[in-house]
Amino acid sequence: MRTRFLGRSGLQVSELSFGAMTFGGSHGYQHIGQVHGTEAKAIVERCVAAGVNLFDTSDVYSGGRSEEVLGEALRGLRSEVLIATKVRWAVAGNPGPNDQGLSRHHIVRSVEASLRRLGTDHIDLYQVHGWDGRTPWEETLRALDDLVRTGKVRYLGASNLAAWQLTRALGISERDRLERFVGHQIQYNLISREAEWDLLPMAVDQGVGITCWSPLAGGLLAGRQRPGQHPPAGTRRAIGYFEPHDTGKAFDTVSVLHKIADNRGVTPAQVAIRWLLDQSAVSSVILGARDLAQLEDNLAAVGWTLDDTERADLDLVSYAPPPYPHWHQISTNAARADSPVGVDG
Ligand SMILES: NC(=O)c1ccc[n+]([C@@H]2O[C@H](COP(=O)([O-])OP(=O)(O)OC[C@H]3O[C@@H](n4cnc5c(N)ncnc54)[C@H](OP(=O)(O)O)[C@@H]3O)[C@@H](O)[C@H]2O)c1
Repeated sequence: MRTRFLGRSGLQVSELSFGAMTFGGSHGYQHIGQVHGTEAKAIVERCVAAGVNLFDTSDVYSGGRSEEVLGEALRGLRSEVLIATKVRWAVAGNPGPNDQGLSRHHIVRSVEASLRRLGTDHIDLYQVHGWDGRTPWEETLRALDDLVRTGKVRYLGASNLAAWQLTRALGISERDRLERFVGHQIQYNLISREAEWDLLPMAVDQGVGITCWSPLAGGLLAGRQRPGQHPPAGTRRAIGYFEPHDTGKAFDTVSVLHKIADNRGVTPAQVAIRWLLDQSAVSSVILGARDLAQLEDNLAAVGWTLDDTERADLDLVSYAPPPYPHWHQISTNAARADSPVGVDG
């Protein structure tokens, strides 16, 4: 397993990381967490043996149980790994006005609760889980900077922000000499490629490392569900999880994944993850797995690469026309490339 720098920071993360959203209870965040105890420990140990050094969770996954199960599974391995968790949303039902958001109050209380649940004295990467339009970035960034100064947190990351929101935060950090976000955890996979228009170019430009969530679109890109069929019972897709905007296109993409996988003797999941690993802004792809067999399958996405034809086939089927102003910039750039004096002459 290779490591990559997380953006412009000096922190090296494994190209595949593990997401512990499947850890926790049978209740809680989107009913996804179903892995506990020895099963969780076996998954974590297999990841470490394969070279995975980054484990991602959130305070809201399974109402905090994901952090507890992950912390327990990492007992004895803590010094070998990096732990990433998140703050923004309310952990318990019926939250009061200060039980969510990115206020200093909520951040300080949340980090203490996460440290306790994880059973650790520091968080390696502390990420804001989403935008909070009601708290000024200055307050949030100052509170996060304090956590780095006191050693409770080592690096800062963001998740699910629009490019302008993240750029603005980076500008404030620079102006006020505060710790900056070095990672951005975003939804990016073969059927959700919107990030390519703004989020990825700005991440490269600003030195922010991309980590990709739901690399298999919650299981769809693993290819077990055929068009017109119901998702297999008991799977996350049967429960319902971020449905694709364009179902027809999604299943066409799955067909191409099957074709490439069959030709190569690999699996559709491996091809989908491999495609992400080859995108230049990506620091780490966060694997989701609910058992060892799925993990083993997904870990085999490293150590090889897709060829140009395979990449072109995947692009052709999954490409979506860019929204304005990107189509305007692309046609302008193309015209400029054709003419040494540029479109305006
Ligand atoms: N920042 C955010 O807002 C955000 C949002 C979502 C996720 N995340 C992070 O990203 C991590 C990964 O996301 P994800 O769990 O949605 O990833 P994913 O890979 O898109 O989906 C994982 C699910 O797909 C199925 N699956 C995985 N590997 C498979 C295989 N080889 N063959 C067949 N089915 C397979 C399993 O579900 P079934 O067996 O039930 O089908 C598994 O639980 C999470 O753990 C979390 O850390 C962050």
